[in-house]
Amino acid sequence: MGFTTVRKVKVGIVGCGNISDIYFENLVRFSVLEVVACSDLDSDKAYHAAEKFQVKNVFTVEEMLRSSEIELIINLTPPSAHASLCLDALNAGKHVYVEKPIAVTLEDGKKVLKLAKEKGLLVGSAPDTFLGGGIQMCRKLFDDGWIGRPVAANAFMMGHGPEGWHPNPEFFYQEGGGPLFDMGPYYITTLIFLLGSIRRVTASASVSFQERTIKSEPHYGKKIQVHTPTHISGVLDFEEGAVGTLVTSFDVWGSQVPRIEIHGTEGTLSVPDPNRFGGPIFLKRPGESDWEKIPILFGFTENSRGIGPADMAEAIVMNRPHRANGELAFHVLETMHGLLEASEWNRHYLLKSTCTKPELVPHVGFLLN
Ligand SMILES: NC(=O)c1ccc[n+]([C@@H]2O[C@H](COP(=O)([O-])OP(=O)(O)OC[C@H]3O[C@@H](n4cnc5c(N)ncnc54)[C@H](O)[C@@H]3O)[C@@H](O)[C@H]2O)c1
Repeated sequence: MGFTTVRKVKVGIVGCGNISDIYFENLVRFSVLEVVACSDLDSDKAYHAAEKFQVKNVFTVEEMLRSSEIELIINLTPPSAHASLCLDALNAGKHVYVEKPIAVTLEDGKKVLKLAKEKGLLVGSAPDTFLGGGIQMCRKLFDDGWIGRPVAANAFMMGHGPEGWHPNPEFFYQEGGGPLFDMGPYYITTLIFLLGSIRRVTASASVSFQERTIKSEPHYGKKIQVHTPTHISGVLDFEEGAVGTLVTSFDVWGSQVPRIEIHGTEGTLSVPDPNRFGGPIFLKRPGESDWEKIPILFGFTENSRGIGPADMAEAIVMNRPHRANGELAFHVLETMHGLLEASEWNRHYLLKSTCTKPELVPHVGFLLN
């Protein structure tokens, strides 16, 4: 089952760094959009991407914003540039999809949502991994009652940070980085997609290493000062009743704890890595001694980064809600700020924002020709 695309949404990509390759590679799969231009402050990177992925135009950011052809900007800049470029794109009359987090500060996040509303434009934000087959299947099991009423959730993202592999890792240790802002969006978005919005949070946060040494090229040996917490142990209370535990860390050398588990009155669901699109999924039901491996009945189980903006492009054409949307991303942002604030102020943080659970993707061939 599919539908005939009425028109293609013309897209411009801003930020041709580390993550951009997978977007350029994947976006050609989606007939509802076409990448017509790319841009980067470092024009060499934009020219390199244009040549590698046969993109028609290399524009400056200003040219991109002025282009009457481009309807949707995909913002793949570092977090510190997210909000300002989103605001520029919206002011130029363009829909915008931004890598995570939607903004660094809550104030900037609010400005982006407010401007989009005033202009009648859409804001989307990564992650879009929850649109992959693994997490979609978990939601289907959850909706169909396989684990009953949710009781608790555990989520762990434990490692030693990206300075061992990322070519430009400094931003991970500035405000808007750290394990919570860098990896938290995958975990918190998935928890919200499964369990609904979060009511209040509390946490303890710390910095175990004040300085980091880059172990990747081209900055091998350079020291980075750490300006954001790198180990955050949090508790999340969901509106629907479940109590969640979330630990994100760049301060540990390894971990064997599961990434996400959802415990319900009728069973436990072992949820796959929310930074990926596939499985495995395991289910444990009362009275059964073994975990059952669950087959995945949804598409997009391979690296499908770009499905979020593709869903958004179809939403623009079909005038329907999009799934990786600004309200969800803002609720995730407020949750992350709330966790840090709770640790700093020795108290729970009560969330002011809320969001609705995005709908399941409708069928296996969704968005594909
Ligand atoms: N690298 C990953 O594995 C990864 C994975 C998922 C998400 N992300 C997210 O993607 C975003 C980008 O990460 P990255 O790893 O590609 O970073 P990067 O530093 O490799 O690339 C960012 C690019 O944006 C350009 N840029 C910066 N400010 C700009 C501006 N104002 N206008 C135009 N171009 C600008 C830089 O020149 C650079 O080429 C971040 O938000 C990050 O959290 C990265």
